[in-house]
Amino acid sequence: MASKAALLSLAALPLARAETVLGLYIFSRHGDRTPKALKPTNLTSLGAEQVYASGSWYRSQYVASDANTPLYGLSSDLVNLEQMAVMAPPMDNVLQNSALAFLQGLYPPAGDFSTQELRNDTEVTAPLGGYQYIPVNTVSTAASGANLENSAWLQGASGCDNAVVSSNNYLSSTEYKTAYDDSEAFFQDLLPVINGTFAASAANFKNAYAIYDYVDGAVVHNQTIPSSDLLTNETLRELKVLANEHEWGLAYNSTDEIRAIAGATLAGQILSALNATVAGHGGKPLNIQFGAYGVFLSFFGLAKLPALSDDFTGVVNYASSMAFELVTNASVSDRFPGADDISVRFRFANGSAASVTPSVYPLFGQDETLLPYSTFVSEMSKFAVKDTPHWCKVCGVTAGDCATASSGSDGEGSGSGSDTVSNNKSNISLPIAGVIGALVTLAVVLGAETLIYFFSGLMLTKKSTLAAAQAAAAGNAKGKA
Ligand SMILES: *[C@@H]1O[C@H](CO)[C@@H](O)[C@H](O)[C@H]1NC(C)=O
Ligand SMILES: *[C@@H]1O[C@H](CO)[C@@H](O)[C@H](O)[C@H]1NC(C)=O
Ligand SMILES: *[C@@H]1O[C@H](CO)[C@@H](O)[C@H](O)[C@H]1NC(C)=O
Ligand SMILES: *[C@@H]1O[C@H](CO)[C@@H](O)[C@H](O)[C@H]1NC(C)=O
Ligand SMILES: *[C@@H]1O[C@H](CO)[C@@H](O)[C@H](O)[C@H]1NC(C)=O
Ligand SMILES: *[C@@H]1O[C@H](CO)[C@@H](O)[C@H](O)[C@H]1NC(C)=O
Ligand SMILES: *[C@@H]1O[C@H](CO)[C@@H](O)[C@H](O)[C@H]1NC(C)=O
Ligand SMILES: *[C@@H]1O[C@H](CO)[C@@H](O)[C@H](O)[C@H]1NC(C)=O
Ligand SMILES: *[C@@H]1O[C@H](CO)[C@@H](O)[C@H](O)[C@H]1NC(C)=O
Repeated sequence: MASKAALLSLAALPLARAETVLGLYIFSRHGDRTPKALKPTNLTSLGAEQVYASGSWYRSQYVASDANTPLYGLSSDLVNLEQMAVMAPPMDNVLQNSALAFLQGLYPPAGDFSTQELRNDTEVTAPLGGYQYIPVNTVSTAASGANLENSAWLQGASGCDNAVVSSNNYLSSTEYKTAYDDSEAFFQDLLPVINGTFAASAANFKNAYAIYDYVDGAVVHNQTIPSSDLLTNETLRELKVLANEHEWGLAYNSTDEIRAIAGATLAGQILSALNATVAGHGGKPLNIQFGAYGVFLSFFGLAKLPALSDDFTGVVNYASSMAFELVTNASVSDRFPGADDISVRFRFANGSAASVTPSVYPLFGQDETLLPYSTFVSEMSKFAVKDTPHWCKVCGVTAGDCATASSGSDGEGSGSGSDTVSNNKSNISLPIAGVIGALVTLAVVLGAETLIYFFSGLMLTKKSTLAAAQAAAAGNAKGKA
């Protein structure tokens, strides 16, 4: 009896001992916002609530003193700025504000925890109940700090020449032409709903995302949508399917990986941050970045997630987040575990983590949802763009920052998986970081045309649209529409 009980409790031990989460990288979309077609775009109250709730979920999971799986070494109530890094593209109010709202959920006002006693015994509590100030660092843009939210042409603003060419190729592909022709009547039929903003000449597949975005915003916020009876469930569904097809086409192509430069750059940033935690025995355990849905899509493609489900080719919902956990079962009481004892787990929530608990998915077409750290690194390295010289090379850029960055690089293999880029000191720096930031505007790729109509007064005919749009975009690249 007694020995059986002892055996049972022994057997239960490994199960009972919780895993330790050693590091975490969160990449999140912004919350609900006003439509791209109606400038300036703002985070709505609903959107702020979504990201705030998401941040609160991450707090209850990883940060609070009673968190489910507390992040090793992370301060619970009072933020320690050395333990985390937060990034969002500059001059993008929607993403910057989303990051701030998320952080308020993650580290709410500290109240009594922030109260300090002066020498003369007076107690002082910081303003706003001990509001915690967490800087959101900007990801610099290669495109001369242009206002991303308003810049016209996504890949153009990224400065990655080869990616621009690749995305343009989508717009002249047979897939695109077929979708354009097949959906022309559908979009024209929507005009009574959208003609306050979209001209008849703009009601087509070219603006699939911008129109979807506009109608979706109206369905949530507008009490008086013109001809709203046209917006049946079937029509709304079709609108979303078309928008998804269009955005996926721009974000990823399995035989032309440069199109997914946004995901490749994010992968490089994730590798770099996680390595800092593993190799640095702790380092900054928490990294958070806010960015656009286009980054999700291109990363999904690169990580072979669409093999699990076509859902991964659809635009993710507002406040969606993906999280990469560094986990171990090894003891952490006397030393930080070595890389061999560390694994990586991937989670994704299609919406605010507070309402859609992040689920575990296997990456890279593998079966396991828990990958040895070394496997994760080698798989990610197959497509990750790790540093500036690498970015310059795959993007075919030699000017600007690339002129200096490339001087140190020798003839590494042409495969983007090359692991040999160890010759430079820089981490992800300006041009690369800029891609992530610039891709925020993936959302506008189609809206671009809309902008051009409204602000440049260009009348684009169906035949010449592509060339005209490109010319206009080039002219607009630095402009704030
Ligand atoms: C965004 O906010 C600005 C300033 O408050 C306002 O002028 C603008 O109309 C808002 N945009 C939309 C689409 O509501
Ligand atoms: C204590 O010191 C603070 C800061 O110098 C001052 O504002 C406050 O009036 C002092 N309180 C008393 C009771 O002296
Ligand atoms: C993907 O790339 C291939 C090869 O470049 C091309 O033939 C195909 O049309 C592209 N597909 C799309 C949707 O762009
Ligand atoms: C939009 O369409 C409706 C219904 O067809 C029409 O009455 C209205 O005049 C149109 N508005 C514009 C700005 O074209
Ligand atoms: C919202 O409703 C107003 C009428 O109250 C209409 O003029 C406007 O076009 C609508 N906006 C959208 C995005 O449907
Ligand atoms: C349309 O979809 C909404 C939300 O999913 C649902 O509540 C409603 O019943 C649907 N309407 C019809 C006519 O199917
Ligand atoms: C990982 O980090 C360590 C320590 O910071 C550094 O020496 C090493 O070069 C990094 N490795 C990679 C692949 O980035
Ligand atoms: C997320 O939800 C959107 C909207 O419902 C859908 O189009 C997309 O495919 C979903 N993505 C995933 C990965 O589930
Ligand atoms: C830790 O052990 C549990 C129970 O055996 C297992 O389910 C889990 O995957 C392990 N985690 C890691 C990181 O190895």
